[in-house]
Amino acid sequence: MKLLENKVAIITGSGAGIGKEIATAYAQEGAKVVIADFNEEVMNATVKELTGAGLTAMGVKVNVSNEEDVQHMVKESIAKFGRVDILVNNAGVGDNMQAAANVQDDVWNRVMDINVTGVMRCMRSILPHFEENGGGTIVNMASLAGVMGGRGGLTYTAAKHAVVGMTKNVASHYGPLNIRANAIAPGHVVTGFNAKMTNIDPFGMKQATRGTSMMTKAGTPADVAHIALFLASDQSHLINGVTITADGGWSAY
Ligand SMILES: NC(=O)c1ccc[n+]([C@@H]2O[C@H](COP(=O)([O-])OP(=O)(O)OC[C@H]3O[C@@H](n4cnc5c(N)ncnc54)[C@H](O)[C@@H]3O)[C@@H](O)[C@H]2O)c1
Repeated sequence: MKLLENKVAIITGSGAGIGKEIATAYAQEGAKVVIADFNEEVMNATVKELTGAGLTAMGVKVNVSNEEDVQHMVKESIAKFGRVDILVNNAGVGDNMQAAANVQDDVWNRVMDINVTGVMRCMRSILPHFEENGGGTIVNMASLAGVMGGRGGLTYTAAKHAVVGMTKNVASHYGPLNIRANAIAPGHVVTGFNAKMTNIDPFGMKQATRGTSMMTKAGTPADVAHIALFLASDQSHLINGVTITADGGWSAY
């Protein structure tokens, strides 16, 4: 029996990067996956790739910071696949490495809207459904910046710390209802993420990358997907409220 046989999973930001790899790993392990992304082009391409390989996937265009979009995503998923068992809050954006003195309001608001409010909205929408079903599993994508102080700009660091906090809060409050919430804190993973940052703050970048020579290796999206698969599967049923660092030991130094 496959690890996620008969499970239904929504993965946000799964048109590209880490999310796409998680969706692929879940589908290969028997899950029906919902590719939820605000970039329709990559979303459709990922659905096509997965269904072309004989896997089960559907796309829903969603901006996770928009309440109507999030409600629509959950409704559509249930309408198509009958239920949802797993939510992966992976969609996230960077903050151009802006140090505290250089934070721009529009960057702060966008990063908080997507990386924090988006995670809250998706969890708020799915939890009543999980309760009704007698359980469910949430995997949140934090970052090393969610557990360390200096690895990103101020806003991204604040946002990912919030993701770690929300993960523990949901695990604590909903654990007794058979609902789990765990997070992953990757170090550097090779995706298109960094290339999407523009007008990078040179001071913030310099400060945040002082320790990169101590990083033994960068991760791949597949490395993170393996952890996300374990956290979504029943193999990790005893793990709740935890943030797993995935940085090859970088932060252990
Ligand atoms: N790449 C890294 O080094 C790294 C390290 C630590 C944590 N992370 C986290 O991992 C997650 C995925 O990052 P990635 O590197 O795969 O990024 P990526 O930019 O390659 O992919 C992100 C995907 O999310 C989608 N997305 C962005 N905002 C969205 C929104 N508001 N609503 C719906 N979809 C949205 C994008 O369209 C894209 O398909 C993010 O939360 C990021 O903060 C990445």
